[in-house]
Amino acid sequence: MASSMVRNPSLAPGGRLKIEWVSQHMPVLAEVRRQFERELPFSGLTVGVCLHLEAKTAYLAQVIRAGGARVAVAGSNPLSTQDDVAAALAESGVLVYSWHDATPEEYHGFLHRVLDSEPDLIIDDGADLVTLIHTERQELLGRVRGACEETTTGIHRLRAMEAQGVLGFPVVAVNDAYCKHLFDNRYGTGQATWDGIMRATNLVVAGKTAVVVGYGWCGKGVAMRARGLGARVIVCEVDPVYAIEAIMDGFQVMPLREAAPMGDFFVTVTGNRDVIRREHFQLMKDGAILANAGHFDVEISKPDLTDLAVSRRVVRPGVEEYRLADGRRLHLLAEGRLVNLAAADGHPAEIMDLSFGLQALALRYVCEHGRDLENRVIRVPREIDERVARLWLRGWGVSIDSLTVEQEEYLRSWRL
Ligand code: NAI
Repeated sequence: MASSMVRNPSLAPGGRLKIEWVSQHMPVLAEVRRQFERELPFSGLTVGVCLHLEAKTAYLAQVIRAGGARVAVAGSNPLSTQDDVAAALAESGVLVYSWHDATPEEYHGFLHRVLDSEPDLIIDDGADLVTLIHTERQELLGRVRGACEETTTGIHRLRAMEAQGVLGFPVVAVNDAYCKHLFDNRYGTGQATWDGIMRATNLVVAGKTAVVVGYGWCGKGVAMRARGLGARVIVCEVDPVYAIEAIMDGFQVMPLREAAPMGDFFVTVTGNRDVIRREHFQLMKDGAILANAGHFDVEISKPDLTDLAVSRRVVRPGVEEYRLADGRRLHLLAEGRLVNLAAADGHPAEIMDLSFGLQALALRYVCEHGRDLENRVIRVPREIDERVARLWLRGWGVSIDSLTVEQEEYLRSWRL
């Protein structure tokens, strides 16, 4: 029988407390759990999960298990796994393959262990499991009913697969649901990114210049919270419409080459590669802090930084100093991996209640309709988005108005 691979099972008590804490702040998932326990929608099925393995994810895995599934989980980033949470989750009956600071080989091996469990359904973050099935584990293509994808970068990869006609099962774009990107990407990444930067550096943000590269859903949140902390904020974009939005939101907009000498903090959130590179490092001031909140650790060019540096050393946990030939020091946080997860606990529980409430209900949707859906990237049905929103408002004790019959008719008609 398969058994979990975690760093240290004796850490479970601490992990249990963390899961208990977040579960008290996730009323949507609690309600979904009660429903799953009654109806067992995943009975007899295996669900393979690849997500940042911290307490909120552990709670989601337990909720899916409560719905009758066997669940196998791997972390979606070597630095975001919390070993105590992994131990507690394994102890609760979920198969866990992950530990903090896994080598690339170990990380790859863990994804394979999840696929060894022969999943019928997948929850993915960044499309790592789905791409692995399509490359190294094609024997699973006939088995998997469908998947749910958590983040923007994963959706980009899946749409590329769809465009090439190679996507072998339907994938629900959970990221694109309103209750995901409007709150998780914006308010979750906004708050948690600065939480990670402040924990890692213990430096003040007020009065400094923060350069936010990318003004998509995440970038809007990172810039907004930087302003709230008292920073002067510069936004760098390549999209002219988002650039206007940043201007109208009251930020300075300029090319990164112009912003490079001015920034104290640089945060990348583009989903792109080599966004901050040699030409920018060469212009930065001594002591600049470099952080990434995009999915992969390719946004800040580590090869360029390594190449320019005459020495490197870790000066605080999660802070690496790169000393350049002229004596300037640039500080890279969390090895350029998502700073909110690698240097903090990720998004707040209340935010992940929305994202993971969607994940759980979207998974059920794929489970029940997967065989009838086309092998494409599909939207989360509007009813699921609305159900999650209503459950969340109820959890917060907020009620809202509803349309009268006459108003509904008015909105449906074209004659005034
Ligand atoms: P988005 O597509 O809404 O925004 C990305 C923005 O970056 C776009 O406006 C694009 O024009 C801009 N951009 C691309 N290349 C650029 C360049 N070279 N210079 C300047 N701007 C550039 O995407 P979203 O939702 O904001 O996600 C961004 C990244 O963050 C993705 O990798 C996503 O997976 C990740 N993400 C991270 C989270 C976290 O917990 N840290 C949470 C959610 C998403």
